[in-house]
Amino acid sequence: MDHKVLLQVKNLNVSTIENEEAVKIIDGVDLRIREGETVGLIGPTAAGKTITAMAILELLDPFGVEELYWRVEGETLFKGRDLRRLPRGELDKIRGKDISMIPQKPIRSLNPLYTVGFQTGEPLEVHEKLERQIIERMVIEYLGKVELPDAKTRRHFFRHQFSGGEAQRIMIAMALICNPSLLLADEPTSDLDVTIQRQVLELLKRMKAEFGLSMLMITHDLGVIAEMSDYVYVMYAGRIIEHGDVTTIFKKTRHPYTRGLLSSVPRIDGDDIKLKGIPGNLPPPPYDFPRCSFYPRCEHRDERCGSEIPGLRQIRPDHYVACHKAENLQAG
Ligand SMILES: Nc1ncnc2c1ncn2[C@@H]1O[C@H](COP(=O)(O)OP(=O)(O)OP(=O)(O)O)[C@@H](O)[C@H]1O
Ligand SMILES: [Mg+2]
Repeated sequence: MDHKVLLQVKNLNVSTIENEEAVKIIDGVDLRIREGETVGLIGPTAAGKTITAMAILELLDPFGVEELYWRVEGETLFKGRDLRRLPRGELDKIRGKDISMIPQKPIRSLNPLYTVGFQTGEPLEVHEKLERQIIERMVIEYLGKVELPDAKTRRHFFRHQFSGGEAQRIMIAMALICNPSLLLADEPTSDLDVTIQRQVLELLKRMKAEFGLSMLMITHDLGVIAEMSDYVYVMYAGRIIEHGDVTTIFKKTRHPYTRGLLSSVPRIDGDDIKLKGIPGNLPPPPYDFPRCSFYPRCEHRDERCGSEIPGLRQIRPDHYVACHKAENLQAG
């Protein structure tokens, strides 16, 4: 199947500037989402996944909050137009309509002063300028679609009257009500118990089938990635270190970090539960190491890995790896 490219991120670089000192957080990220595709973005905590999504939507404030400024460079082409170079008015027409986001902590993103029904309908008011009555009907319909119990009455309730899982589903309704072509879903199932998690995943799948939605699914949950994604990007310390179609990443990974990640999932082998894991931790930014960013934790490292940044290299169709030793490592 030949899908058109919907979003193409080219050489994205993000730094914070605090007291005139730049700290690199995203280092040269390239990423592509095709129409109808779900792309998984996986990586350890603090790898830069949320910052990547925020940079795509131009949500990082270049003017600063409490002395902290963001510097973003690169191109984010959506349907061929560079979001980074659009006038503010044009960008506002796209955000929340053509592209929407489920933020990582949904309960914090709901305003405590307005009813959830009002907030769910807000994108329709802003982007579609529909009549109040039609908006109300659609709010009930979409809160129903996300299976919020008793949506008709509870749309008049406020944030504190909902559980975390319910807030998550309200954010999904809000993200989908304008029928976007791209959804950036940042950890849409973390903090949820497994049964609610299942419901949210099923809901996103249904929405994808119903609306032909493309998705960037950000998570550190391998099960979610395996179930939802067509294609996977692995991020580590602000860089993409491996990408490929979902089967390749799970069956033929060649990056030592991804391999470590896969071996961190408990496997039952006879009577033993095996869990390998990765020693050490991801260091804090700046993420502009003049070497492989995984070098200190890698069991396969050699001198070259400590002195030369490995670029992404294609090693099979639809499989790219940033590792000097990729060819020497056995697949899997
Ligand atoms: N507002 C901020 N000011 C300064 N640094 C920040 C800010 N937000 C994030 N960072 C830093 O940027 C880096 C990347 O953060 P990001 O939130 O993108 O990580 P993540 O991959 O989404 O992690 P998680 O899986 O925990 O959500 C981290 O080191 C984080 O400390
Ligand atoms: Mg995050």
